[in-house]
Amino acid sequence: MRERLLGRCEFPPAGAAVDCAVSGGADSLALLVLAAEAGCQVTAWHVDHGLRAGSAAEAGVVADAARRYGAAFRAVAVHVAPGPNLEDRARRARFAALPTGVCTGHTADDQAETLLIALLRGAGVDGLAAMAPAGHPLLGLRRAETRALCDEEGLAPVEDPSNDDRSFVRNRVRHELLPLASDIARRDLVPVLARTAALLRGDAELLAAADPTDATDAKALAAAPPAVARRAVRAWLAGHAAYPPSAAAVDRVLGVARGDALACEVAGVGRIERHRQRLRVRPATVRPIEGDGRAAPGVRPGEVPNKVASMSFSVDQSLGEVVVAEDALRARIGELGAEITRDYRGKAPLLVGVLKGAFLFMADLARAIDLPVEFDFMAVSSYGSSTKTSGVVRIVKDLDIDLAGRDVIIVEDIVDSGLTLSYLRRNLMARHPGSVEVCALLVKTGLQREPQDLRYVGFEIPPEFVVGYGLDVAERYRNLPFLCVYRPQ
Ligand code: IMP
Ligand code: MG
Repeated sequence: MRERLLGRCEFPPAGAAVDCAVSGGADSLALLVLAAEAGCQVTAWHVDHGLRAGSAAEAGVVADAARRYGAAFRAVAVHVAPGPNLEDRARRARFAALPTGVCTGHTADDQAETLLIALLRGAGVDGLAAMAPAGHPLLGLRRAETRALCDEEGLAPVEDPSNDDRSFVRNRVRHELLPLASDIARRDLVPVLARTAALLRGDAELLAAADPTDATDAKALAAAPPAVARRAVRAWLAGHAAYPPSAAAVDRVLGVARGDALACEVAGVGRIERHRQRLRVRPATVRPIEGDGRAAPGVRPGEVPNKVASMSFSVDQSLGEVVVAEDALRARIGELGAEITRDYRGKAPLLVGVLKGAFLFMADLARAIDLPVEFDFMAVSSYGSSTKTSGVVRIVKDLDIDLAGRDVIIVEDIVDSGLTLSYLRRNLMARHPGSVEVCALLVKTGLQREPQDLRYVGFEIPPEFVVGYGLDVAERYRNLPFLCVYRPQ
């Protein structure tokens, strides 16, 4: 079976050094066996995430197999803190610990799943092209074949129980969507989808080669065919963020290039501005905006409130460094209000405030908007009084106003895992509004489970628990005029 399968794999020539990521599952054990069969000089890399009991023992399975097939063995341990977006953070930590160019045991089944997941996320041709052949020598094999190979070799693969956890999108695609779609199509869709991905990869490469447009040149962007302009903007934004940008964000940037708007916000990137026909990025990470000298006698970013003698607020030992100072809030909210005023000219947007955290932000933002705005409030509960997301969102108070045809702006205090917002957006969209956009004062970097399309963002802040300016812990600290880190004593 080894030779038969090897004929459908893409390994470097015999004698070449090949690093293989081997978890001990059937796919990666097959990768190890076949890389050795191809005559490569194999190093098997095992990564222990420390997330499951017994995960360190799995390294032993890989070490034994490496010895048996004449491969070198290397074990690395990475630390991944529990919390939101675990799967993605574990994947990033894993690749950071592995050598560049490392091969993985992904099969045609994984490729079909990757394409479907990209489709669910609304990806363009690059995302739908799924995994490149480089680094994925087994894309021509089926998952069942890697298992059969392990059986024949007498290898006992490690079973990862998280492969059955239906809270991961990939597992639902694997166990529910793909079987259903195959049933509807009356054929096994894995080879069909894997082939589609390969064809789209060819298209994507062709487009990339034909696309010399400089995304910072506003004139060139405005003149380019839309497909080319969109690609150039997407590639440019992707270079500034952890996530690829949403289609809506790309369109907003093109609007700036055309001169329809002076600037726009892109979540995860910052503010895109046009200046002398060039587009440039102003990062949205916490940036101290210098005050006007008349600012409150408050605290500066990085200072700890209870150590500042001039503090007019009584603060306690649980408050850590200031993340956003009072004058920075005022300046940034003024900018957001001006942007909304410009973007919604001639309209009467409905501001939907998310209680309770957004109440101060909503009040200040509304006063910076020069339009006939209307107000409504919703209360959702996702946290209780702890500082960790429960993942459960519940409507505690619903809206009074009918949303049909309205231009809704959701005003949120903070986006952490993004669960609250994803839920709210879905819920409000079902009420047939004319449009729904989001204005979030704060976004914690790197914690969102799925990319969020946030039209307006005040500040991106590090993933720490913060209080003040509407945000609380067990109802306290909402009245602090600044935002600071909370560290219970
Ligand atoms: P998400 O659903 O994880 O995005 O959480 C959003 C909600 O959790 C916010 O509207 C807040 O009510 C709360 N939250 C998240 N992070 C913080 C924080 O750092 N301080 C206070 N509340 C927070
Ligand atoms: Mg809230």
